[in-house]
Amino acid sequence: CGIIGYAGHRPAVPILLEGLKRLEYRGYDSAGVAFIQNKELELLRAEGKLVGLETKVNGRDVTMATSGVGHTRWATHGVPVERNAHPHKDNSGRLAMIHNGIIENFQEQKDWLIERGYTFASETDTEVLVNLISEGLKETGEGVLQALSWALARVEGAYAVALVSLDEPGVIYAARQSSPLVFGAGTGENFVASDIPAFLNYTRDVVFLEDGELVRMDANSWQVLDALTLEPIEKQTNRIDWDVQSAQKGGHKHFMIKEIFEQPKVIADCLAGRVDLKTGTVRLPELEGLTSPKRLHIVACGTSFHAGLWGMNLLESWARIPVRVEIASEFRYRDLLLDEDDVILAISQSGETADTLAGIRRAKQMGASVIGLCNVVGSSVARESDHVIYTQAGPEISVASTKAMCSQLTALYLLALHWGAQKGTLSAEVTQQGIAAVHELPGLLDAELPAMRERSKELARKYSGVSSFMYLGRGLNFPLALEGALKLKEISYIHAEGYASGEMKHGPIALIERDFPTFALAMRDDLLPKVKSNLEEVQARDGRIIALTNPGLDMGVDDAWVIPEVWGPLSAFLALPCLQLFAYEVADYLGKDVDQPRNLAKSVTVE
Ligand code: G6P
Repeated sequence: CGIIGYAGHRPAVPILLEGLKRLEYRGYDSAGVAFIQNKELELLRAEGKLVGLETKVNGRDVTMATSGVGHTRWATHGVPVERNAHPHKDNSGRLAMIHNGIIENFQEQKDWLIERGYTFASETDTEVLVNLISEGLKETGEGVLQALSWALARVEGAYAVALVSLDEPGVIYAARQSSPLVFGAGTGENFVASDIPAFLNYTRDVVFLEDGELVRMDANSWQVLDALTLEPIEKQTNRIDWDVQSAQKGGHKHFMIKEIFEQPKVIADCLAGRVDLKTGTVRLPELEGLTSPKRLHIVACGTSFHAGLWGMNLLESWARIPVRVEIASEFRYRDLLLDEDDVILAISQSGETADTLAGIRRAKQMGASVIGLCNVVGSSVARESDHVIYTQAGPEISVASTKAMCSQLTALYLLALHWGAQKGTLSAEVTQQGIAAVHELPGLLDAELPAMRERSKELARKYSGVSSFMYLGRGLNFPLALEGALKLKEISYIHAEGYASGEMKHGPIALIERDFPTFALAMRDDLLPKVKSNLEEVQARDGRIIALTNPGLDMGVDDAWVIPEVWGPLSAFLALPCLQLFAYEVADYLGKDVDQPRNLAKSVTVE
């Protein structure tokens, strides 16, 4: 979910709506705002995307309200209907709250409140919390601040909340525990939001709130306090130097296609300052004080997990470090075998994925050290890791991740070169070759992307009528097969399976027929002959094949898609955009909502 709060001198509702638009990537099942106008606390809420809420607002005069809160929802408790949309009021109608996250003991608190005569209009945990604050007002006999603190002490779980009260018009309270929340300090106006782009048009001075912190703000003042003790906490503002433009579409039809085309720049930005062509060395000052690990555990979700699987191959082969790659939601609950010698590499674009964060926390408790590989500066993963490598990909808005994976692969490539050179398991000659080759990539990819897009369009038209796709790859191409299948299912809703080519014969081959085509990663490498025989098995079952391949290889398939051959493992950087473009063109051809596919969210801050 995305939340925003504003207290200032301008009409608040348009600012809240604008902020919500920038947060829509975090969820878009329903949306709502709360504000005080003519001494009344008003809620406007609508099911579905933000346009529904905008239509409601347009029919009203809301210019008098100069503070308020807004929410865009990704359902956790209760179906996505207006009744469950945020904000929620308490029984007295004097408080309204928005909430991102899950209150785990909400049922227990709800039962307790029901015994005290409270009634509930929704199934949400948020309505429980706002009534708990109401009860806190009675219990403490004090103001909203004390009541909020009283209530927060009673709930368990993850939250970022923002609260308005009819008794204190113009004041917003917000607090966080395991869900993202940033504060923006303006002139005569202040902001809180789940993410910086929500208010970047108004201020660049940002305070990163930590778990257990609460902020009280009005138009002209703000203060951060410990949520439980209410002791004041000194906080520094940080100046953000990227601009809103870079979070906009820039002439493209969708954010996703814009982000795919940004990949050459993303590689260049990730390499900047980290490779020295003259000496043929990699510099990662972020890892100062850390020698190459004895064992490495890569922990991630979704696309970041696929990047991790790819990285494992390089780290094992170049740096000779035993690597295990695990899905964060599995890792966090396993009976782990970790000690001080183990290093965790947490890969997360957003740096806010709840499972990845929980994995880090467990690992740290067990004494392991953590390297975060993140895109979002100041994110929770970044702040809780012992060392952080930023991927420098810029804001990624499209829900389906593209350029973030490209930047993760770049960083993993550098990491494998760095540790390989440090340990001496990789010769200076290969290191130099690797650096020179990756340096050439941005230019090459930039030149290839337009032709890749054309080819992807042709193929999308030909194949978009099918209801299932198989993606096959071996070795370094296996994680790419998984990613290709994920991209297609995420945005086109066509069923797709990613498999290791050699595993196909153990089951999925039973599905192959003419209308269950295969997308094969068949670039030149040592395993290509094996991939070829797997493809013959597909053809023998009348299965059609698209093969992503290199010049001079006669694949004898329905549709060869020829891309240039590059040094060693770098073929991933050319194959990945092809997989992304194919999924994009299929989804766009089918008229799907590419940037905001159904049921998904960009940043999954719940378990
Ligand atoms: C969500 C997104 C995916 C992303 C995954 C992990 O499911 O829709 O695109 O790969 O989260 O996100 P992270 O920010 O941790 O990389």
